[in-house]
Amino acid sequence: MITIDEVREQFERNEELATFHPLAIKIMNMVEDPDVSIVELEKVIEKDPVIAAEVIRVANSPLYMPSQQIKSLRYAISYLGMAVVRSIVIVTALRSVYKKVKNTEVASYLWKHSLISATFARELTTSVLSNKLNKEITFLITLVHDIGKIALLNFYTDLYQRVFVEVKNGGQFFTAEREIIGVDHCEVGALLLGRWLFPVEFVETVAKHHEEPFDDYTAIILLSNLFSSSMTDVLINPIGYMAYKDRALEILGVDSYIFSQVVDSAKKKLEKSGDLLSV
Ligand SMILES: [Fe+2]
Ligand SMILES: [Fe+2]
Repeated sequence: MITIDEVREQFERNEELATFHPLAIKIMNMVEDPDVSIVELEKVIEKDPVIAAEVIRVANSPLYMPSQQIKSLRYAISYLGMAVVRSIVIVTALRSVYKKVKNTEVASYLWKHSLISATFARELTTSVLSNKLNKEITFLITLVHDIGKIALLNFYTDLYQRVFVEVKNGGQFFTAEREIIGVDHCEVGALLLGRWLFPVEFVETVAKHHEEPFDDYTAIILLSNLFSSSMTDVLINPIGYMAYKDRALEILGVDSYIFSQVVDSAKKKLEKSGDLLSV
């Protein structure tokens, strides 16, 4: 059985996975600072042409529908707002992490799961929780909730294949991981996000995202998982989530009729996202 200390040693040996894009971390912190200007943010983003191009591409996508084509990075930032730009930067940096993982087919499925879940979390927050929570923060926390699976898949590829078999047969990821590997994706994800210097709120939420009692963020993640399992037919067993759905809705103060409306609007957003979802 693998212990969390052994996973920690794997991170020590695997600099590539254990370090997150430094520019993305810098941008994440900059956007939290209310005194940062668009020009300052532009100066940092333009140091990475891939990220800069992605910000402009997303600004022009059907998801954000500008009335005329946006060509400059500065205009894209002012059009989208800094918080959305931060999300695009993190998505772009994270996508390249998923691309590097050994089992690309599974990684691509996990990436889709993350983006679909995060899109739903953003939609739910925008529609009914905007007085309580920040939609881009819930988007990002949900985006990274299963990052531990990527680390486990990368380090223990063969064992993780067995986890997938177990899940396909009706098991839950975190229980199968504990039984087959010895650690679960929640603790590994929290460890990795801590190394990546993500905010403590992210680390703590990811650590307990399958644990009761749920709080606002973990309730959102649970509902987002449920939504994602209805959109992608493989590798998620929704039964485990269904049992907690009502409790999660209650914690958030959302009734099931409103929830079904959010489901519909999230589906429309995903249709508009198109190729933004691909790895
Ligand atoms: Fe999870
Ligand atoms: Fe998940």
